[in-house]
Amino acid sequence: MTPDALQGPEAIRDMFARIRGRYDLLNRLLSLGQDVGWRRLMARRVAARRPRRILDLATGSGDVWLALRRACAGAELIVGADFCQPLLALAGAKGAAPLVAADALALPFADGSFDAITVAFGVRNFADRAAAFRECARALRPGGRLWVLEFTPPPRAIAPAYFFYVGRVGPWVARAVGADPAAYRYLGESIRHFPRAEDLAGELAAAGLTGAGFDLLSFGTVALHWAECRPRE
Ligand SMILES: C[S@@+](CC[C@H](N)C(=O)[O-])C[C@H]1O[C@@H](n2cnc3c(N)ncnc32)[C@H](O)[C@@H]1O
Repeated sequence: MTPDALQGPEAIRDMFARIRGRYDLLNRLLSLGQDVGWRRLMARRVAARRPRRILDLATGSGDVWLALRRACAGAELIVGADFCQPLLALAGAKGAAPLVAADALALPFADGSFDAITVAFGVRNFADRAAAFRECARALRPGGRLWVLEFTPPPRAIAPAYFFYVGRVGPWVARAVGADPAAYRYLGESIRHFPRAEDLAGELAAAGLTGAGFDLLSFGTVALHWAECRPRE
């Protein structure tokens, strides 16, 4: 299955609903446990700026929400939002609250509501990234920061081995644990077609955010991006 076969928000939502029972397990297995560290790193970087009101967008099964709760002791509100109800139910079962069913392309929050917005492994699945980034810019207060943790096309030297692992081993492991292998073929294809980190930084700037930067993690296979909301005119 290619990203073309999974075009449209309904197909993406259904795919995540289908794999919910094995979602966390496959994150741990396929990342060899590194996904926990990636989320914690983002949460620590968010916490260093002492945000009071945080939105974890595309919160999924809530693991970023939990990492933020542990790291951001002074935060008065951490909202988890996602458009897939079955995944929100998993997040709720882990203790995440409040949770809001919401589409990233039309956020149900007033302008300037948040000091920080995080999105982990979500933007690759958004039907319209530019619209979602504009929504994040609108929902942030001036000076507030958007954080995007996402896979990124790997350096050329490791690309063949990486895409063999993600594209062949991933679906095989998914099938072995009883999950839909097509969803994990989609994972590999969606990473292959995703913009490089430099280009994603350009997209953040085009959405009206400023000071875009990123760090590469895990041999350049994952990027932690950030960008800030400009002062309003
Ligand atoms: C790969 S999961 C990531 C979940 C979580 N952030 C994590 O780190 O495990 C991607 C999530 O993005 C959500 N998603 C995709 N498109 C969305 C949209 N337009 N609005 C809200 N959530 C969306 C999916 O429902 C899914 O929960």
